[in-house]
Amino acid sequence: MTAKLCRVSNTPLKQVLDFGKQPLGNGFLEKKDFANEYFFPMSVGFSEVSMMFQLLEQPNPEIMFHDHYAFYSSTSGFMANHFKQFAEEVINSGYLSKTSPFVIELGCNDGIMLKNFASKGIQHLGIEPSLNVAKEANKHGVRTRSEFFSEELAETIVKEEGQIDAFLAANVMCHIPDILGVVKGIKKLLKPTGVVMFEDPYLGDVIAKTSYDQIYDEHVFLFSALSIKYLFGLCDMELIDLQPQKTHGGSMRYVLAHKGAYPVKNSVPEILAKEMAQGLDKLETFDKFRESVEQSKIDLVNLLKDLKAKGKKVVGYAATSKSTTVLNYCGIGPDLIEYICDTTPIKQGKLSPGMHIPVVPYETFAANSPDYAFLLAWNHAEEIMGKEKKYVESGGKWIIHVPKVQVL
Ligand code: SAH
Ligand code: TMP
Repeated sequence: MTAKLCRVSNTPLKQVLDFGKQPLGNGFLEKKDFANEYFFPMSVGFSEVSMMFQLLEQPNPEIMFHDHYAFYSSTSGFMANHFKQFAEEVINSGYLSKTSPFVIELGCNDGIMLKNFASKGIQHLGIEPSLNVAKEANKHGVRTRSEFFSEELAETIVKEEGQIDAFLAANVMCHIPDILGVVKGIKKLLKPTGVVMFEDPYLGDVIAKTSYDQIYDEHVFLFSALSIKYLFGLCDMELIDLQPQKTHGGSMRYVLAHKGAYPVKNSVPEILAKEMAQGLDKLETFDKFRESVEQSKIDLVNLLKDLKAKGKKVVGYAATSKSTTVLNYCGIGPDLIEYICDTTPIKQGKLSPGMHIPVVPYETFAANSPDYAFLLAWNHAEEIMGKEKKYVESGGKWIIHVPKVQVL
């Protein structure tokens, strides 16, 4: 689906970066499927009206989210802990009704967050179109509806089950092209005292760290507080709090409510002012970003070619969806990276999207001790480096590319 116009403000988009043909971030595949591999022209644009940073073209949702979706949230213990805390913060926030509160989570995946509500007997519903991960959530006592969220589905839920206290989402709002339809649905779903709490990778961090790998097929938007204020303002809702998060290399949690329902916390004007100072409302900021991205590509390719020339063994660590952008944009294939190890069974034995680097079980990593490991899951650096201390003790080195290309 191509958008020459901003999906939110309907005003012309200015292209800021072009990555060329890209495969699906989670499109791990077998050799027999090479001929049918899906590619799309990936470029991003910006609207100075809505301040939305967005893909110009995105594959149809059904191509990305289905009954064999490769991303299982619970592969990270750090994220499991993060979502346990998020759930506790919602439960203790004071925003939920005292009697029989009802919460909905969009994109609940394998139940990583909602299981913390289910185990306490709190009325909940997960909206999760990818059936394989939704079934995993069911095993943890989480009730799901395997559908794409829309304004129509919101109306159906209100009719069948009534309005809700909290609308939660993590790393999913930025996946949905008809985001205005989602917000219209939320407006109908929420009780007058209801709140929205969602988090997504944060545009401010992407610009500050040149983490361009947050741009891939699923991420149709990268939000800022400015763009979220604009979007929800169209439905008479407002930001009441903003909470920066460390997850996914820098995320923002947005808390919103019907206009006037709650006092606005100081974090809101503070972070909005910071974003204006960073230039998240101006096109020229993205011209500088493009230059940094191009430099990052040159530095990374030079480093890997240099190591190859020296006869070093280099592998990738964690077959993340975001690494699909790095590997394809920089043209890094099995000649420079022998394999990628990953803990997700559905990815193992397959080849990486586009560049076709073999994905192997992570046990292979310890068994073969490479000279260098390119940490493709740089956002999980703390967790991974913590459990791979032996690798470094035995002389192994990490390569990371965010915030700049370096050997650690
Ligand atoms: N919340 C989890 C999963 C994020 S991945 C976490 O943070 O780890 C995004 C999830 O959103 C996927 O499981 C995908 O199937 C789901 N999703 C994608 N589009 C959706 C839509 N329109 N409505 C609801 N869920 C959606
Ligand atoms: P994400 O960056 O989109 O969360 O994807 C994480 C990927 O990294 C997922 O494929 C699992 C993999 N992974 C490992 O292989 N080992 C680990 O220790 C962690 C935390 C993740």
